[in-house]
This record gives sequence, C-alpha cells and structure tokens, in this order.
Amino acid sequence: MRATLKIVLPLIVSVASVSLVFAGYQVRNQRRILRNDLARRAEILADSLQESIERELGRGQDRGLRRFVERYGQREHLRGIAIYDTGDHLLAITPGLEPALPLHPTAITKAMHDDHGDGEFLPPEQTSAQQESDALPVHVYAMPLHRDNKVVGALLLVHDTGYIEIQVAHTLRDALLNALVQTLLISALALLLVRWTFTGPLTRTAKWVRTLRTGQPNPHPALLQGGAMEQLHHEVTHLARDLHSARTAAEVEARLRDSNASLWTAERLSVNLRERLQNQPLFVVSNREPYMHVFDGKDIKVIVPASGVVTALEPVLLACNGTWVASGSGSADREVVDSQDRLRVPPDRPSYTLRRIWLTEEENKGYYDGFSNEGLWPLCHIAHTRPIFRPEDWLQYQRINQRFADTVLQEMADADSPILLAQDYHLALVPRMVKDVRPDARVAIFWHIPWPNAEVFGICPWQRELIEGLLGADLIGFHIQTHCNNFLETVDRGLEALTEWDRFAVSRQGHVTRVRPYPISVEFHEKPSLEPNIANRLRAELCDEMDIEATHLGVGVDRVDYTKGILERFRALERFFELNPGYCRRFTFVQIGAPSRTDIDRYRNLLEEVNSEAERINDRFQTSRWKPIVFRGKHHSHEEISRFYKAASFCMVTSLHDGMNLVAKEFVASREDERGVLILSTFAGAAHELSDALLVNPYDISQVARAIHRALEMPEREQTERMQHMRHIVRQHNVYRWAAHLLFDLTEIRIELVERAEA
Ligand code: G6P
Repeated sequence: MRATLKIVLPLIVSVASVSLVFAGYQVRNQRRILRNDLARRAEILADSLQESIERELGRGQDRGLRRFVERYGQREHLRGIAIYDTGDHLLAITPGLEPALPLHPTAITKAMHDDHGDGEFLPPEQTSAQQESDALPVHVYAMPLHRDNKVVGALLLVHDTGYIEIQVAHTLRDALLNALVQTLLISALALLLVRWTFTGPLTRTAKWVRTLRTGQPNPHPALLQGGAMEQLHHEVTHLARDLHSARTAAEVEARLRDSNASLWTAERLSVNLRERLQNQPLFVVSNREPYMHVFDGKDIKVIVPASGVVTALEPVLLACNGTWVASGSGSADREVVDSQDRLRVPPDRPSYTLRRIWLTEEENKGYYDGFSNEGLWPLCHIAHTRPIFRPEDWLQYQRINQRFADTVLQEMADADSPILLAQDYHLALVPRMVKDVRPDARVAIFWHIPWPNAEVFGICPWQRELIEGLLGADLIGFHIQTHCNNFLETVDRGLEALTEWDRFAVSRQGHVTRVRPYPISVEFHEKPSLEPNIANRLRAELCDEMDIEATHLGVGVDRVDYTKGILERFRALERFFELNPGYCRRFTFVQIGAPSRTDIDRYRNLLEEVNSEAERINDRFQTSRWKPIVFRGKHHSHEEISRFYKAASFCMVTSLHDGMNLVAKEFVASREDERGVLILSTFAGAAHELSDALLVNPYDISQVARAIHRALEMPEREQTERMQHMRHIVRQHNVYRWAAHLLFDLTEIRIELVERAEA
C-alpha cells in the first residue's frame, strides 16, 4: 500500500493543483466577463436614455424628470438613475437610490468635463450609505446631458454588482467541486492501474519467487504482457530457470556423491576446467555461429541454426565462458556487433563472446558451398553423391581458413598458452595455421562428420594439405573409433609421418598429434515428468494446430540433406501404410525439415524432391481430415521441436551415413515420461551407444516399414525399459562428459610438451 501511495500521492497533488489553478482562472475570467457585460449594458442604456432626458431638461419641468427617474428604478440589476446639473446638484433621483450613490462622483465630473460617458465600479464603502448593512457594491455610469450643444448636467446610472460576486461564488463552488471529483476519479483510476499493472503483478511475482525459494513446483504467475513488466517477467523467469537448474545440479551432485558415480554436469565441467585452465579462456572456432540475427520485416529476431556443432558446443561455452569465432551469416548480424565485430550471447543471459567473421558471397561460394559442402561433405559421407573438387574452391578454402586462423590469433593475443577447440571439416587448415604462430597454444580439432577409409579420402586432390593442416593440432577428435582408424590409415598412406597405432598418435617433425574418439552428445536435463499424460495432451494440441486427426504421431527432425535418408524414410512409410491400412486415419508422420545449403543445386533439388515425394504419398492415402505425412520444410526452434519429440510415439533417424546424429540423443533426452521408441540407422554414430533403439538399415525399405509397425505396437513396458536404458546412456554420456574428456586430454598434452621442451 505504501508503494502504491508513493506513486499515486504525487499524482493526486498534481491533479489537485492543476484543477485549482484552472478553477482560479475560470473565476477570474467570469468576473471579468460579467463586469464587461454590465459596463456595456450601462453604456447602451445611458445612450438610449440621454436624448429623452435632454428633451425633458429642455422643457424645464422637474415633474417630467421625476417621472422619468421613477420609471427606471429597480430593473434587472439597475438600482436607479440620478440626474445632476453642472454644479453636481441632484435634479432628480429614483426613490431609494440615494444610499447607493457615490460619495465622490468622479465619474460625473469626468463625464461632464470630457463630454463623454464614463463608468466605474465602486466598493460598498465608497457609496453614501449611512449604515454598513445598506452598503452594496455598485457600478456607476455617467453620461453628459446637453442643451444647445452645451453640457448642462449628467445622467448617472447605478447598477447593483452584488449579483456578479454571487455568480462568481457559484462558479468557484462548481469549479472546486469539479476539481474534487476529477482528483478523486483520476486518483482512483491511477490507484487501480498501478495495482493492476505494477503492484499486483509484483506481489504475485514476489509470491512466486518465494515459492521458488522453497523449491515447490509452481506455474508462472499471470503477469501483464508488454513494456517493463514483460522485461521483468522475462528476467525473473530466467532467474527462476537458473535457480531451478542450480538446484537440480546440486541435487545431482549430492546424488553423485552418494552413489560415487561420475556424472558430468555443467557445474562440474566448469569447476574442473577452471582449475585445469587456471582461468585461461577457452577459444572455439567453427564455421556456423550459435546465434544468427535475421531481419523479420523491420525487426531483428534471433535464431539458433540447425547444426550439431551448435547443439553440442553451446552448453560447453555456457559452462566455461570464452570466445567463439564463427562466420556471421545472418542478414542482420552486422547490426548487433560492436566495433570489434563482437557481441555477448546468449541474448537472454549473456555468458560468452561471439566474434563474427564476414565473408563475401564469392568467398562463401568457393569456401563453404564449393570446397566444404560439394567437396568434403560428400567425400566423407558414403551417401553416393559424387564430390566435386574445383581448384578455385580450394583456393578460397585456404584463404578463408587463413582468415579464421588470423581472427583466432587476434582474439587469443593476450592469453598465455591458450586453448583452442576448432570445429569440423570447414576448418581443416586452421590448426596448423594457428600452431605455426602460437606453438604455445594447445589446439584440438573435432571432426563432426565421418572420416571415410583411405581409398575414398585419397580421391581428394588436396588430401595431403588437408592432413597436414589437421596434424597441426595436438589432438584430433572423432565420434567413433572407426573414424580414428580410417584417419590413421589415411595418414599412413598419404604422408611421410610416423603413425603410432599402439597409442593412436602421429609424429611428424617433432610434433605429436593424438587421435581419439569422443562420442559427442547433448545436455541431459534431470527433470522428472510432472504430467503423466503429457504425450497425449501435446499430440492432441499439435494435431489441432496442423488440422489433422490422428491418434499416433511419428517424428523426424533433420536438415534437408541427402545424407539424412529422408526420401528413403518416406518410402518406408508408404510401404508401412500399404502393409497396414488399419493405421490410415490413425497415424501421421511429421517430418521437420530445416532447409539447408540451398545455394547448392543438389540441396535445392532435394528440397523439392522431398516435398513432392510427401505429396505423392499423401495423394495415395490421404482423406479430408488426415494425411500420412506432414512435411514442415522450415526452420524450427528448439522449443517447437521439443513439443514434437514429447508428443511422438516414435522418432525416426534414418541417416544413410552420419557422424553421430544428435537428434537421436535429443529425442531420448526429451522423453522424461520414459515412453516413445527410437528408430535409428545403423549408419549413424549414435547407433554405437543407443543399442536399445530399433536399429535399421535405411536402404532396406521393408525392414524400416516393419520397424515402424513394431514401434507403434510396442507395449508400454518394453518402451519404458528401452527408453530407460537409452536415457541412462545419454545421461552418463552427455555433452559435458564429451567436453571434459576432450579438453582434459588436451591439457594433459600440454604437460608432455613442457616435459619435451625441458628434456
Ligand atoms: C553438420 C556439420 C556442422 C554444420 C551442420 C549444419 O552437422 O557437422 O558443422 O554446422 O551440419 O550445416 P550448415 O552448413 O548449415 O552449417
């Protein structure tokens, strides 16, 4: 209440003061108008009487004059009239007027002297009333009287002005009343508004925060949208989320201590890394950035690109701070950086620095579209798309790798023995480029895609340069052992270097590069499912939104890429409906497909093909309120995707070849209800860990169709058993463990280097 009064009281005082000033002005104005009006009426009346009185004066009969003055007594505010001669002697006067006459009739003297009408307002004490009770304020107006063009006297009109003060008093009373009502109304309204928009929501927020402190699960309080309250809501929601994660992390830690297990959490990673790095910052470099700013009309919105690199590294950066160097590819990216092309992200709780690099269209065409995605990508994925190697693309690739390396070097200029984590096939040359300038830097590169066997890699005209670039790193990480083996074999065949198979390392010109598998992963939020039927509720909501009727949903989430096996998946769905027509009208598969690399013909054509394949199959089976496949070919946020994961009876990952595939792990991590089935390609790295998925060969359409049937028919108990096992694995092998193993191995290598230098 005190807070409300503090806001409302100044408002009451201001409204009251303004109303009072206005009332004063109104009163003054009205008094002026009434007085002017009276003065004018007196003048007009005197004017109209002048001639008749002069005529009577001319006749010289006092009786005529008396009759005249009697007739003009007591008319509307006119007390009466008096006629004077030039010696100021009264010739005639309205009976009873005498007390109201002026004591010193200056108006009469002036009128006769100037030969011109003259008026004045007189206060009661300037009239000739003997008793105070008879004294009234009057207005007198004198008009000269003539005979033979000479002034022979004056006519005096006396008006009562008491009524003016009465009317002014009424106006004053009304204005004050008005001011009072206005003040009361505005204050009451302000009070309501303040309570509604500020104190009410604040009190609810305070209560909410209090219940949060006590650790009770609670919904968000209903706060008003828009303006400052929304910002507050936003901040408090984040605070609540952080508090909740901190509490969960503490619980997990406590459980860990209890069970002596070795679960990695963000906190554990950050504490351990800080100790090991001794507060040295972490540098990450990748082609794809974690946040893209894009124009949405005139507004700028932020999107998180669909990329395994981003999914995995963001939680690590959040835990360890540091700087992430990446290419700025959003249409509004330049609008939000500072003069050094940096900004703090994530937007809602800035925790680390993103340094953007700018590439021209031509550079992108050669380095990104050309060499990286038309050359290396199909080279490393066995998906039967032929790689294209153009010398001009290779030139751009080298130039842009140098630009990334220079930017990283610039960022780490002030750091002693900095740690660099380079990412993926776009930046194979960066490790060497950085290491040549900063031999004290500890450099690792993680290869997020498969490494093919030596024969396949050998077709790349620049395999030697690529391997040399990679061997600049102290540590090279792959998802699985097979990729490590393939890499060592490639080095063996392509370079004069000592490959040490026993300790999985390559020695070259005195420098050792270790090669290790680190299966990448996702965050695993330890959240118990609070809503038993969440899958059913979300399914009903999503069906409503998509305007279909279905009792089962399946989901696929991919970039539209030929390695993901989307077309094969659709054909398996077609086969499934052929074999199981009873599922028509009951089961719909939703394919979320983020358009990807659409400047490349192969990808653009694939997008069209995926669209038309979905349409073709839909045409075969669909009814008015149902269709077998819903293809959503646009970018979806994590939150949107998560609803589909939680609602689906199964998730299908049928990559023809995939380094790891984090969709499989995200799906498992999101199923707090321990339900749902994962159908997973044996050619995805994730299949090595998630053996409780229904493993399929994506090329075998009938097998995948059978797996779909099995997923839909799987008893709940079996679903739970499989899901529990998979969740246990993803919980244990989470992204913090991945980062911890990779980064700890890297810090160990530093010690060996120091020892070598000492030796
Ligand atoms: C794969 C690569 C990532 C890449 C992602 C998305 O996951 O390993 O490096 O970021 O695809 O592709 P894009 O070309 O859109 O970055």
